Amino acid sequence: MFPRSRAFCCTVAVSGLLPLAAYQNRVPAGHAGVPGETNPPCTTCHTVTLNPPGGSVQLELAQAPAYQPGRAQRVTVRILDPDAGRRYGFQLTARTSANLQAGAFTAGSATAVTQQGGFVYINQTSSAASYSFDWIPPAEAADLIRIYVAGMAARGTRDSHVYTSSVELSPAAAPSFRRVDPVVSAASFQPRIAPGSWVSLFGEHLAPPGVSRIWTAAEIVDGVLPRSLEGVSVTVNDRPAAVNFVSPQQVNVQAPDDDATGPVEVKLTTAAGSVATTVNLSTLAPGVFALPPRGYRYAAAVHPDGTLAAPAGLYDGEPPTRPAKPGDILLLFATGLGRTQPPVASGRVLLNPSPLANPTALRVRLGTGEAQVLWAGMVSAGLYQINMVVPDLPPGEHLLTVEVDSIASQPDLYLLTASQNEQRLFLPAPMAAAPRTRMLH
Ligand code: HEC
Repeated sequence: MFPRSRAFCCTVAVSGLLPLAAYQNRVPAGHAGVPGETNPPCTTCHTVTLNPPGGSVQLELAQAPAYQPGRAQRVTVRILDPDAGRRYGFQLTARTSANLQAGAFTAGSATAVTQQGGFVYINQTSSAASYSFDWIPPAEAADLIRIYVAGMAARGTRDSHVYTSSVELSPAAAPSFRRVDPVVSAASFQPRIAPGSWVSLFGEHLAPPGVSRIWTAAEIVDGVLPRSLEGVSVTVNDRPAAVNFVSPQQVNVQAPDDDATGPVEVKLTTAAGSVATTVNLSTLAPGVFALPPRGYRYAAAVHPDGTLAAPAGLYDGEPPTRPAKPGDILLLFATGLGRTQPPVASGRVLLNPSPLANPTALRVRLGTGEAQVLWAGMVSAGLYQINMVVPDLPPGEHLLTVEVDSIASQPDLYLLTASQNEQRLFLPAPMAAAPRTRMLH
């Protein structure tokens, strides 16, 4: 902490020159290292050694080297000096290439904003080795923007190490979709989606650079799933979709409810612009979630004990995997299977599993056989679970398809089954308890 007498240091120093109130607790403006301003920064009052060897000021911007107009980004300033006994401070500003003010700041802890003329600066209010705060770029893209910072490690005013640095940022590129199949089922990766189903959008600049995350619990308010993450939103046929995951190359959304079928517009919007394409909306678009390695070859089937039903060692033991055998109960996960009873609204948290409205329309085909379905329904927003029994099949890989009203899931999905003997290697004890039939019960 700054001793109280020092917190008012700069006020004391400038009070003769400038109105006192404007500089309470503040470093005077014009010392961030911008060409044409006081350079080296912080001189007049401090005796400055500029950029002495061994130390530095580090400038981190969450979306560097880009900015999205109007969209706040986190800035962290770190002052490094070999002398641990020093006290720190800094000043930072943002300028367009014409040297005009670029955006605004929201002060974080131990920082405050100072204005002078048309310019805005942010600086320390007490000593800290690093400072974090938000920079809000201008609402209109301003071409190149440069962030200037001067960081100080001081021993009083007579021996001050000042380090300068700057970072150039370009406006983030507008989003674009990939040419082939930009909008697909998040499970089957086929270009057909259903209302309420999980959908993946693929392209470039779909989210701010460096962003890759799913929603947080705090973003789900009163059971309503978020319709925007990190400034990314999606509409399907002009209706807002719930946004679960955003990254520059992929965005996952739950398609909104809709009675329309046929080609509809899918539009993704970021602070840097919008992009639209057309996708086929159908009442049913069955897709079975698959395991990522080997090109999503294996269905994400799960034994009732939680072990994945897949070739042994598919993930080198973590998570564990073991093949299924005839007679085993397996859980499959899918999207786009259509109506449930009671019906479930898209874009909301699902509180209770809801069975398929028409379970007889569902078929699970495995190789030459057909699996008995014990239960099928929605278990969380847009996600269906199918509890099935593995039919009698020879050991090996078998094509797996889920059909609703004869509309089939992706054509290239497999389940590996083992013989009874082989199975003993993986499962020495007989399954004791009755298997759970519903994941969420
Ligand atoms: C108008 C004069 C003036 C300018 C310009 C100025 N300072 Fe200061 N600063 C002072 C004075 C005077 C003190 C000493 C106050 C005291 O010791 O109580 C001080 C002390 C400090 C200290 C505490 C030093 C210590 O050893 O405790 C820090 C940190 C600091 N200034 C940061 C800065 C930074 C960073 C800049 C440039 C961005 C800057 N100051 C520009 C007048 C100024």
